[in-house]
Amino acid sequence: MSAFATLDDLGDIRGKVALVRVDLNLPMADGAVTDDTRIRASAPTILELADAGAKVLLLAHFGRPGGNRSSVMSLSMVIDAVQDVLGREVMFVPEVAGPVVAQTIGILRPGDIAVLENTRFWPGEEANDGDFAKAIAANGDFYVNDAFSAAHRAHATTEALAHLLPAYAGRSMEAELTALGKALDAPEKPVAAVVGGAKVSSKLGVLKHLVGKVDHLIIGGGMANTFLAARGVAVGKSLCEHDLAATAEEILAAADKAGCTVHLPYDVVVAKEFAANPASLRTCNVHEVAADEMILDIGPAAVEALGDVLKTCRTLVWNGPLGAFEIPPFDAATVALAKTAAALTREGGLVSVAGGGDTVAALNHAGVAGDFTYVSTAGGAFLEWMEGRVLPGVAALERA
Ligand code: 3PG
Repeated sequence: MSAFATLDDLGDIRGKVALVRVDLNLPMADGAVTDDTRIRASAPTILELADAGAKVLLLAHFGRPGGNRSSVMSLSMVIDAVQDVLGREVMFVPEVAGPVVAQTIGILRPGDIAVLENTRFWPGEEANDGDFAKAIAANGDFYVNDAFSAAHRAHATTEALAHLLPAYAGRSMEAELTALGKALDAPEKPVAAVVGGAKVSSKLGVLKHLVGKVDHLIIGGGMANTFLAARGVAVGKSLCEHDLAATAEEILAAADKAGCTVHLPYDVVVAKEFAANPASLRTCNVHEVAADEMILDIGPAAVEALGDVLKTCRTLVWNGPLGAFEIPPFDAATVALAKTAAALTREGGLVSVAGGGDTVAALNHAGVAGDFTYVSTAGGAFLEWMEGRVLPGVAALERA
């Protein structure tokens, strides 16, 4: 028996009310959803429940309205996108509990779908308030959590509700937990982790946890500069947290003790200004960065060596770009290593799991997101999982 009940464990749900927590915290521009990935991730769960005859009520947060109603954060704004993805009509209900929801349930037919209002309009949501959760639960027969990307929040609709109704992991939640479990909990070894991004300070927990878990830790992005500087390398004007030198040393020492090889770049791409294809662009050894230059990407020799490291590995976890990938040519290292990882995955030699907003954007930019074994929809939750933390929304689903 798995640790979680899933939709496979549901009996006859015809006419029953399913309260389904999804993540509709979607990027918007000019009133329209610009990326519907998270809706697509939960569509199989929603449609499976609807097709089995449940009345499906979707619960989700949107933005951070701080416990107040806000017209610009109403979930009514995402209804069109939800309908487009599901290919069905979806009702919007401007409440999450009480008589309005009860009346709506009376109107809904088996198989109908409704989106309830932004749960964060009520202070009880973020307070994980038991009475608020009970008021929501009163209208439902069972609870499904399909929002792994919100599972790091102990909120009423991600945590408390799971204790009040029979609780099930949705298909997307199930897929996330299975994929992430294969990547870090019980991975095929050797395991490599790529950790990039701007700042060491935002990923300290991740680095500290990973050195005890993986065989190879590949550090890129601005964070690599902090490690290089800690080792006495002059990094010029590069983004660098000089005050974290001692912490970087501690992480390197912990890695050494745990038998984890840390890979820092030995050649880098530098420029005097952060602009597309600047005149001052050059590639050099890390020890040759001038005082007025910035490191903006890992160099080609380092990328090739990292590709060779991946070829020896069976599992890869990736979070964060290796360079300033938004501006060419500083996307080169991220694109090249992502392509190598994708090719190894396609050949069947590597299980590759990636997550985090920037990472997914970088893999899409490299055109290889579809080739990774699994790309998580989560940002903050993925990072907390990489830190080895228990996610309250996941813990609440575990069978007693
Ligand atoms: C996300 O967008 O990462 C999740 O929906 C969580 O949102 P939050 O950071 O506002 O809690």
